[in-house]
Amino acid sequence: MPNLVGDVSSAARILPDLNGEKLFISKGKGAYLWDDKGRRYIDTALGFGAVLLGHSNDSVNAAVTEALGDSAAPSWAHVREHGAATELAKHTGDLTKVIFTNSGSEAVHLACRAARAYTGRGKIAKMAAGFDGWFDDVSYGNVTSNEASFQDGKRPSTERTTLIRYNDFADVERLFAEDNDIAAVILEPMLANAGCIMALPGYLKHVQDIAHKHGALVICDEVLMGFRLYAGLAGLREGLSPDIASVGKAIGNGVPVSAIVGKPHILAGFEEGRVLRGGTFSGNPLACAAVTSTLTQLDDNDYESLIQRGNDLRAAIEAIFESHGVIISTSGYGNVFGVWLGMTSPVTYEQAVEKANPAFTTALHLALREAGVLMMPSPYGRIYISFEHNSFVIEEMKVAFEKAAAKLSAEFANA
Ligand SMILES: Cc1ncc(COP(=O)(O)O)c(C=O)c1O
Repeated sequence: MPNLVGDVSSAARILPDLNGEKLFISKGKGAYLWDDKGRRYIDTALGFGAVLLGHSNDSVNAAVTEALGDSAAPSWAHVREHGAATELAKHTGDLTKVIFTNSGSEAVHLACRAARAYTGRGKIAKMAAGFDGWFDDVSYGNVTSNEASFQDGKRPSTERTTLIRYNDFADVERLFAEDNDIAAVILEPMLANAGCIMALPGYLKHVQDIAHKHGALVICDEVLMGFRLYAGLAGLREGLSPDIASVGKAIGNGVPVSAIVGKPHILAGFEEGRVLRGGTFSGNPLACAAVTSTLTQLDDNDYESLIQRGNDLRAAIEAIFESHGVIISTSGYGNVFGVWLGMTSPVTYEQAVEKANPAFTTALHLALREAGVLMMPSPYGRIYISFEHNSFVIEEMKVAFEKAAAKLSAEFANA
């Protein structure tokens, strides 16, 4: 009997068998992954969004290898940590103070602790169906949970967490009228883990303004969106002024690292020793080397072309399916988007629930896998593309989508 619980350490990694076989990846380079049988795939999960420069980036590898040679765990302050913090803070506006952690969940956890300590309040408000990590406070109300959909007047809450409906302007006022113990609202620039639901114009700013009016902080959870659309925080480009942001994934190109960045007065409690932070591996040399190398490279990359390539791919996928009698739509941005069956993509989580079709997305995953493309199987999953997904790779992807659409047309034709 295998020892690994459910075959994987994170539930996000569970995949259906294909022709009775499980998938085990042996290596990756650029836009590609190879399995243990030597088959090559174009990857669109990309470390669940972490691998923006492509798999196994040479410069990141060299920087991390050098750090590893100098000791992975020197215990004390070391020569790479300040440099990485300086590099990160160059990109985060007036969120100038940095604490490194190891995973996005840890960063969000620390941000919530900072907000509670600063405000003296107990609750964190998160977007219903948003994913801000798997730690207890914020995994409440995650996508597909019973709590994620709720009626007015029946807001699900615990002692530490309450929920707010994404893109519902009136619900923000109601939240603060109902509850005066909210330390912070966690905002996601896009409800990415519920299938890339875009924020309506003005919505994020509306939440921020009302939160601030009521003395609550704003935490921008940029673990997924940070550094994806440009080398900086998506929320800042939306005109937001968060008090704290959590970042992770793309800042280390797949090397485990995350951080909170915050306004100095908000994070002063940590500096003064009033608020606890810790972690044997927080700010370790490998992570810091990866951050410095990744961010320097992101500065030199052409995001506009990347997003354009992705938008071309989106349009091509829609056209390919339509030519096979299956109408689909996509939501999100060129380099991170969801695929939906039907003419329109959802604007609210309730619409996403109606549109979610696990049979379709599982069948699409399997057909693409057979055609050499790896895509998340969940209806709320995403297709990512990296800087290594050049025009040649995009053309290869179109061929795979053509094969998949032909295979799925009999079952899912809706045109
Ligand atoms: C928006 C957001 N926040 C937090 C997390 C948690 O990050 P991690 O999986 O690194 O713990 C994720 C992970 O997907 C995320 O997308």
